[in-house]
Amino acid sequence: MKILIIGSGGREHALAWRGVHEGHEVSCAPGSAGMEADGVRCFGEVGVSDAAGILGLARDVGADFVLVGPEQPLVEGLADDLREAGVATLGASRASAVLEGSKAVAKAFMARHGIPTARHVTVTTLDEGFAALDSFEVAPVVKASGLAAGKGVTVPESFDEARSALRACIEGEKFGAAGQTVVLEERMLGEELSFFAISDGVNALTLSAAQDHKRIFDGDLGPNTGGMGAYAPAPLCDDALRERIERDIVAPTLAGLKAEGTPLVGVLFCGLMVSDDGAPRVIEYNVRFGDPETQPLMLGLTAPIMEHLRAAAVGDLRPGRIDVAPSVSVVMASAGYPESSTKGCAISGLDEVDDPDVKVFHAGTRRGADGGWETAGGRVLGVCARGPDLEAAIQKAYATIEGLSFEGAQIRRDIGAHARAK
Ligand code: AMP
Ligand code: GLY
Repeated sequence: MKILIIGSGGREHALAWRGVHEGHEVSCAPGSAGMEADGVRCFGEVGVSDAAGILGLARDVGADFVLVGPEQPLVEGLADDLREAGVATLGASRASAVLEGSKAVAKAFMARHGIPTARHVTVTTLDEGFAALDSFEVAPVVKASGLAAGKGVTVPESFDEARSALRACIEGEKFGAAGQTVVLEERMLGEELSFFAISDGVNALTLSAAQDHKRIFDGDLGPNTGGMGAYAPAPLCDDALRERIERDIVAPTLAGLKAEGTPLVGVLFCGLMVSDDGAPRVIEYNVRFGDPETQPLMLGLTAPIMEHLRAAAVGDLRPGRIDVAPSVSVVMASAGYPESSTKGCAISGLDEVDDPDVKVFHAGTRRGADGGWETAGGRVLGVCARGPDLEAAIQKAYATIEGLSFEGAQIRRDIGAHARAK
């Protein structure tokens, strides 16, 4: 099978590597040097927002289907353009991508379809916002409604902090139009899960639940990032909880989208909070694979997935589940991340990694003038390992990191520690 993947980060590297591993011919736009090293044909001149270029490429390489990685091109309508031109595509339409592109729309959708989530109020002015704050007993979470690369959410400790966050969204420059509409949401307590379902618009194929580590520092301290590490399967998500998530959240979400005339042919990523009594509620929806979650998922899959992704893209998916063997990804990020990132630092040790249970995915690297690897982004590497259990996978990932270095690397030392303690 010939697969064309859109994107260039660690998530896309993991998907492309998996495709090659399953014996397929994988191309990627724009792709990365890290993918090329794994036998993926990359087209660096074709960007993720270049719909015409991507369509031409899909035809040139004879893609059986196109898999779109990041949210931005989905929100812009790339999947619609490809499907209209007759190219099978696994990626949300512009209309269904609104679930990710607007938190206000997503919250209203959940309310319409009885999908469990926290109470919220949507506001568009400071006065409305200040008035709405009074209706919460505990300072609510403040969310810029639009896309903000995972950085538009403040979980305040006080009402004063909530007011500042609200002001920053509505009056500040930081989020632009994305912050003009703000969702104030009851603060939920519990443990977070990342739950993925692949859909052809009707049926769902679910993967073992993963857990992400969003904060930059150990102990979940410091600002939110795109994700500093992840593991799967999450011990918290036993069979009973998985069934409950499939029945109470995934099924009504897909059915609701279909009923509203905007079926999701793509990936439904539910960010969930599971309370102490085991009840899952939706924190947010995304309509794509998560990063870094996809890295341990692709490394640990216990059965091939690419044929299912194609089946979903052509509207012929059989419902089911795929399990994942214990796997982890530990991110090595640049100095300054998430506020900024340094580029061009030499990375040593990459070519010495040699273990069938270890894979280092490239999130932000490039070849330097001397042909060696150097940093080229905020998140640089996703160091992944699998093992007979999570403990072994975690140890293997950190042992691999011992052999890798670049100046100023930021690494959380507690990825998976929580699961380990269970
Ligand atoms: P989001 O971008 O909506 O996933 O939010 C980013 C992070 O903020 C989540 O992963 C949670 O850690 C936290 N968060 C968002 N909404 C809530 C909520 N209602 N209660 C508690 N934490 C939340
Ligand atoms: N790791 C969370 C995300 O991809 O949004």
